[in-house]
Amino acid sequence: MAKTLPDRPLRPATQLVRGGTMRSGYDETSEALFLTSGFVYDSAEQAEATFLGTADHFQYSRFANPTLSMLEQRLCLLEGAEACRLTATGMAAVHAAMLSHLKTGDRVVASRALFGSCHWIVSTLLPRYGIQAEFVDCGDLGQWQRALAKPANLVLLETPSNPMLEMVDLAAVCDLAHAAGAVVVVDNVFATPLLQKPLQFGADVVVYSCTKHMDGQGRVLGGAVLGRKKWVDEVLQPFVRNTGPAMSPFNAWVILKGLETLHLRLPAMCRSAAAIADFLAERSEVARVLYPFRVDHPQQALAKAQMAAGGSLVTFDVKGGKDAAFRFMNALRIIDVSNNLGDSKSLVTHPATTTHMRVGAEERAKLGITDGTIRFSVGLEDVADLIADLSEALDSIAPAAPATRRVPLAVEMVRAPEPLPDTAEPAAKPKRARAKAQPEPAAESGAAMLFELASPLPEVPRRKG
Ligand SMILES: Cc1ncc(COP(=O)(O)O)c(C=O)c1O
Repeated sequence: MAKTLPDRPLRPATQLVRGGTMRSGYDETSEALFLTSGFVYDSAEQAEATFLGTADHFQYSRFANPTLSMLEQRLCLLEGAEACRLTATGMAAVHAAMLSHLKTGDRVVASRALFGSCHWIVSTLLPRYGIQAEFVDCGDLGQWQRALAKPANLVLLETPSNPMLEMVDLAAVCDLAHAAGAVVVVDNVFATPLLQKPLQFGADVVVYSCTKHMDGQGRVLGGAVLGRKKWVDEVLQPFVRNTGPAMSPFNAWVILKGLETLHLRLPAMCRSAAAIADFLAERSEVARVLYPFRVDHPQQALAKAQMAAGGSLVTFDVKGGKDAAFRFMNALRIIDVSNNLGDSKSLVTHPATTTHMRVGAEERAKLGITDGTIRFSVGLEDVADLIADLSEALDSIAPAAPATRRVPLAVEMVRAPEPLPDTAEPAAKPKRARAKAQPEPAAESGAAMLFELASPLPEVPRRKG
């Protein structure tokens, strides 16, 4: 028999390990993997009642599956959402969240800085169905105001954005969107549910690629859509049930196990990313470094108002364009070249020739992606080894360049023991936290700190049908 978890709000680490667990009749410790496409009924009458919705019984894994239900409930607890549906990939989640809601004649406003495939959905797919789309620059509230002065049906945004780590003011844009009649869909992949909770800033729907930090070990693909129960049941569920982007139960099981360690992995990755950003900023071969919590990030105050830490991604430009970027990437001996992110293995990506190749040169220029831009997904290796690898690869771009500040400073900073504040009581947060830009001490580095974003959590009913 599964124990009933206490009613009081649980801290994120406990939610990640315990949330959603349903035990079968065998009283297993680990969540069971229900690798089954269908379910059997005691009788034809029970089958009929299940299809009528009057009996509570699983039907078919395209609609629902017990392993997926456990993951859905765990993600609801973590996000503070009423309901969740899982999909086979993050892109299936973005597509389902948008297409389930939209119809011909509707209007979408989206941040320009979107992952390449999300950009394609807005710029290319939606117009084919007679849905107008307009892009605005992430950080320019005036542009959001102008675009949302006209009625709109849906706003799609990503914050921090892939790959330039630009921030959108969630509370301000949600207010504008709601006044225009739009629902706000936030792609929260870069922040993860531990670092940013868009629903608390007024967003209506949050989407994830579970492929990234949630699995966290580069094994499986997955996506999640979270929102209000009424919207999920009435708008999203008929779409996913009938179009079939279901997540495999095996992938759901892997992601359940991945989540159990997210609270340990993510702070370590954030601490290393902050130290690496500081290290890169000192190197003469690097033209600019973008890291949300660094004092030189143009939106540092907004990042700190919305996020608990700067995240595990660092974006930087090497001097010398594509040639230098390729030579640098090819010289790395620990860090791999890949287009994935959020993995325990550190990965570098050249967005201009991979993830953002198809958005075109003009759009890349608007986004600030140059031929020297490199996106670095910081993993779980020892940060000293990562910095040494980066340092040697940078040396190989400009062997004659005078040595700039060296590795050990940053390494020492990261190695200083840093207690995590998980033992603190979760602070009661207002339902709607408005982002307020706070002045920051000038000398502050991008070092990560984690906080608890705990609000009274809604009861999430277990879905069967
Ligand atoms: C911000 C963002 N959204 C969505 C996706 C799509 O996720 P998936 O690859 O799981 O379909 C990605 C993938 O890199 C991403 O970075």
